Amino acid sequence: MIFSSSSSVISFLFYGLAITCLTFAAVSASYSGNETDYHALLSFKLKITHDPYKVLASWNHSFHFCEWSGISCGKRHRRVITLRLGSQGLEGSLSPHVGNLSFLRELFLKNNSFQGAIPHELGRLSRLRHLYLSTNKFVGVIPTNLSRCSNLEDLWLDRNELTGSIPKEMNLLSKLSGLEIDKNNLTGGIPPFLGNITSLEMFSAVWNPFGGSIPDTLGLWKNLTAFYCHDCNLYGSIPHSIFNLSLLVNFSLPNNHLTGTLPLEIGNQLPNLELLQLWGNKLTGVLPPSISNCSKLVNLDIGENSFSGKLTIDFSKLQDVYYIYLGNNDFHGRGEADNMGFFDSLKNCTRLVTLVLENCNLIGVLPISIGNLSHQLSSLFLDGNHLFGSLPSSIGSLIGLTTLVLDGNRFKGKIPTTIGKLQKLQILTLSRNQFSGPIPYTIGNLSLLTKLYSYSNKLKAIFHQALGIVQNSTI
Ligand SMILES: *[C@@H]1O[C@H](CO)[C@@H](O)[C@H](O)[C@H]1NC(C)=O
Ligand SMILES: *[C@@H]1O[C@H](CO)[C@@H](O)[C@H](O)[C@H]1NC(C)=O
Ligand SMILES: *[C@@H]1O[C@H](CO)[C@@H](O)[C@H](O)[C@H]1NC(C)=O
Ligand SMILES: *[C@@H]1O[C@H](CO)[C@@H](O)[C@H](O)[C@H]1NC(C)=O
Ligand SMILES: *[C@@H]1O[C@H](CO)[C@@H](O)[C@H](O)[C@H]1NC(C)=O
Ligand SMILES: *[C@@H]1O[C@H](CO)[C@@H](O)[C@H](O)[C@H]1NC(C)=O
Ligand SMILES: *[C@@H]1O[C@H](CO)[C@@H](O)[C@H](O)[C@H]1NC(C)=O
Ligand SMILES: *[C@@H]1O[C@H](CO)[C@@H](O)[C@H](O)[C@H]1NC(C)=O
Ligand SMILES: *[C@@H]1O[C@H](CO)[C@@H](O)[C@H](O)[C@H]1NC(C)=O
Ligand SMILES: *[C@@H]1O[C@H](CO)[C@@H](O)[C@H](O)[C@H]1NC(C)=O
Ligand SMILES: *[C@@H]1O[C@H](CO)[C@@H](O)[C@H](O)[C@H]1NC(C)=O
Ligand SMILES: *[C@@H]1O[C@H](CO)[C@@H](O)[C@H](O)[C@H]1NC(C)=O
Repeated sequence: MIFSSSSSVISFLFYGLAITCLTFAAVSASYSGNETDYHALLSFKLKITHDPYKVLASWNHSFHFCEWSGISCGKRHRRVITLRLGSQGLEGSLSPHVGNLSFLRELFLKNNSFQGAIPHELGRLSRLRHLYLSTNKFVGVIPTNLSRCSNLEDLWLDRNELTGSIPKEMNLLSKLSGLEIDKNNLTGGIPPFLGNITSLEMFSAVWNPFGGSIPDTLGLWKNLTAFYCHDCNLYGSIPHSIFNLSLLVNFSLPNNHLTGTLPLEIGNQLPNLELLQLWGNKLTGVLPPSISNCSKLVNLDIGENSFSGKLTIDFSKLQDVYYIYLGNNDFHGRGEADNMGFFDSLKNCTRLVTLVLENCNLIGVLPISIGNLSHQLSSLFLDGNHLFGSLPSSIGSLIGLTTLVLDGNRFKGKIPTTIGKLQKLQILTLSRNQFSGPIPYTIGNLSLLTKLYSYSNKLKAIFHQALGIVQNSTI
């Protein structure tokens, strides 16, 4: 096709070549740009050892390479600008010749089984904006030469087997907005020089054994909207400069070893927060009442810390909140009863699905307003506190509940018969309280109930016939 037998075409080719040689003597005998692309793509294919969906079958002489699947070219110069072969089950290594696709803007190879190193030749792709190598089996280090891709906006290397530390030269990527390096085996801490990438909007590094602390230079990321670093083996306190990043929407640092307090003004400094996820650290101090002002919050997930002091958050502005996990903290009231006023304010949270306040050392009477919680509420965990008095019969209004966990408190009196209105209930634990009287017959109406625990109470051992349907129950 390319080398037609027509002598005029051949002489034209020779003529063209002669011109090229004259003009660019230094690149003698090199291919013209499109030939380079063609050979680079053939080399790419050659390194693929398994192509289960035969996506590369069309990469043959019958078509111009711009028509090959996964390839698109610029209209004018017919050079490869994108190579997109995601989720094709491709196995093999990534050919260094890809570094010759000098017009490439996007390389998308997400979710395949590429092995071996990320070729440092990719650093020659000065027009590259988007590099997506997520979910492969790349090993070795992040090549220093990637920092030469000065137009890079997205660098996704997550879910590979990369080792070593983040190379210092990365801070040359002055246009980078998304850096995803989750689920690798990267060490050496989150380096302070990353703060110099002020264009960054999304940083996601979860599940790496980084170690070290969070550098305060990250406070230079003024455009940051998402920060994800769970399970990064991080120590020290969260630098206060981070709480200056007022565009932050998703802030997630769970399961590290972080210490220190949250700034009192957090809720006023980060008014755009939708996700505040800090569970499984060693944070101390009060849970700042300014969180009451995070009106966009969807997920407040800060359990398993050492927060203390009374819980004084007013939830009434948090109308989008869906998930609240404050469990396993110590919101003690120094012996005196706590103000359970926050329950009243939860009535505005009409989308609330999960509320976990277990093992919070709450002391007090569960207010009747508990019945005003969302009909969407499906899980309510209040176990392991010091709730006393009776269980309000308004609990029967929480008709969305599938799980109601009340064990290990000091509830007294009768179990309200209204519990029988909780038609979706599957798990009900009432054990280790001081409930007395009979188990209400209405529990027999709960046809979905599979677990009922009510041991260690003063309940009359009357086994209502209707309870026969309850399996796995420990009375
Ligand atoms: C490269 O471009 C030249 C001139 O447009 C064309 O003759 C040739 O067929 C192209 N080669 C490839 C591999 O597309
Ligand atoms: C090129 O690929 C197409 C599509 O897979 C196929 O139909 C055609 O036979 C192939 N041509 C050659 C020369 O292999
Ligand atoms: C990954 O690719 C495989 C095909 O090889 C596909 O079945 C799977 O759905 C893809 N997974 C994701 C998360 O895209
Ligand atoms: C393409 O890249 C390879 C490997 O990086 C190199 O050896 C080769 O000379 C390059 N070819 C051209 C035509 O530039
Ligand atoms: C990186 O790029 C430079 C300049 O092009 C080159 O000399 C070097 O060999 C490349 N590779 C590595 C691993 O640094
Ligand atoms: C991570 O690297 C360490 C050594 O640096 C190695 O012992 C460990 O097995 C690696 N983990 C994974 C999941 O590759
Ligand atoms: C950040 O950039 C500034 C100015 O370009 C430079 O002086 C400084 O050394 C850089 N910091 C780090 C940690 O690389
Ligand atoms: C931050 O975002 C704004 C608005 O999109 C943009 O104009 C600005 O250049 C960005 N800052 C940096 C350092 O990239
Ligand atoms: C925040 O997280 C939510 C839920 O995962 C997601 O839908 C949203 O796009 C994220 N926002 C930003 C700015 O990253
Ligand atoms: C937060 O930003 C303000 C105003 O830009 C600045 O004065 C202050 O030093 C910053 N605080 C921290 C802890 O970076
Ligand atoms: C919430 O925001 C309002 C208005 O900005 C402010 O007056 C109030 O003090 C804030 N509340 C808390 C608890 O920080
Ligand atoms: C609580 O919800 C009501 C009804 O939607 C609304 O009028 C009121 O402003 C909300 N309260 C707050 C503090 O946002």
